[in-house]
Amino acid sequence: MADSYISVNGKRKLYGTVSVQGAKNSALPCLTACLMCDKGSCCIRGCPHLSDVENTIEILERLGCRCSFDESGHSAMVCAENAFGCEVEPEMMNKMRSSVLFMGAILSRMGEASVSYPGGCELGARPIDIHLGAFRKLGVKIAEDGGILHCSIPSELRPCSVSLLCPSVGATENIMLLMAKSNGETVIRNAAREPEIVDLQNLLNAMGAKIKGAGSDIIVIEGVSSLRGAEFCVMPDRIAALTYMAGAAACGGEIELKNINMEHIAICSAVLRDMGAVIRRCEGGAVLTMKQRPKAVKTIKTLCYPGFPTDAQPVFMSAMTVADGTTVFIESIFDNRFRHAAELNKLGADIDVNMCQATVRGREYLSGADIRAYDLRGGAAMVIGGLIAEGTTRIRGISHIERGYEDIVRDFGDLGGDIRIII
Ligand code: EPU
Repeated sequence: MADSYISVNGKRKLYGTVSVQGAKNSALPCLTACLMCDKGSCCIRGCPHLSDVENTIEILERLGCRCSFDESGHSAMVCAENAFGCEVEPEMMNKMRSSVLFMGAILSRMGEASVSYPGGCELGARPIDIHLGAFRKLGVKIAEDGGILHCSIPSELRPCSVSLLCPSVGATENIMLLMAKSNGETVIRNAAREPEIVDLQNLLNAMGAKIKGAGSDIIVIEGVSSLRGAEFCVMPDRIAALTYMAGAAACGGEIELKNINMEHIAICSAVLRDMGAVIRRCEGGAVLTMKQRPKAVKTIKTLCYPGFPTDAQPVFMSAMTVADGTTVFIESIFDNRFRHAAELNKLGADIDVNMCQATVRGREYLSGADIRAYDLRGGAAMVIGGLIAEGTTRIRGISHIERGYEDIVRDFGDLGGDIRIII
């Protein structure tokens, strides 16, 4: 709802347990891959309840798939046996970045596809030139007409070796989708190494594909002729987990996280420890304890996996607003991912932004104010800002947050935050 907002009365320590949702950025490519299944149905377990998941299901249905959820709402069944569509309307493409993956999946299924440029969070320029360059090299003809990309495979796909100019997550996934069914061997060099790509490889292989190397920078796809139904459970959402951990590091307290893969967040755990948090594994999860004011960490530079994730930069910036000392954030993945800094300054933070660098001088405290989310992770940073600040913070623009967090208000509420949605 347009006027709803999140209201937070901050300055409380966080205590309690939270179960981390399934990963958005794994569920979306996995659901898209279901379109390529020639026989039987796919069941994707661990899907988070999110608007981006609903939009992906809507695109699948418009393409002729039968989709349903089980009672929990977390297991999606997708049957693509009668899929017929070749086109995703611009209105649907616009809703999220991962819609670009339908280009590879529809081409694989139908031999032709019409899509437009994808939407998604505004984080600076987000071109798809690497996707398009690789697709052309692999035998796809692409003609652009009024913003619509008409893609076709004139004769056959041409499996070969493609080197990505930068290790793009989306381009790596799109090539995997396009080439899983093909006649020959495709090698992706300088591939993205994110764990979500390992998930996509594992799902496709469960469907009968022959892909290896995901998680490293060389992925080898031996094309197969058809894919069948499979059941797959997506990995835990590493950015959602880090959001709760950054919140507890900022506010103090002790939280337990269930459904978490500590290997996926190794670099961020090291930063949290440098900030003064104690993190220990426990059965089925991990516990983070923070008994002191966070200590600043000199420099945090975002990098491709396994480096510090750009998606965690905003929530860690919130935590550093009350750290003892100064932290410099260097954003090296996106060219405009600091919009949250100006909003945090409205709460009394001291952040200077200069191009791709933000200097955060830690303050003793923040005070509540009216602020706005401009993108998904920046929105999560606003929530943490509200939890830190004395008094009431109102956060508008919450549809951005709902794209990636199942229920951030419930989760921080369960951890003892005084937080609610006002409709
Ligand atoms: N890039 C190009 N050309 C391309 C593709 C990418 O120049 O053809 C550039 C981008 O502009 C950006 C960089 O390469 O500067 C990285 O982009 P990448 O393609 O790796 O990102 P993405 O696939 O668009 C995914 C996640 C993002 C996450 C990034 C980086 C999904 C649906 N999205 O985006 O997640 O930030 O990888 O890890 O998987 C989020 O969840 O909030 C989010 C933004």
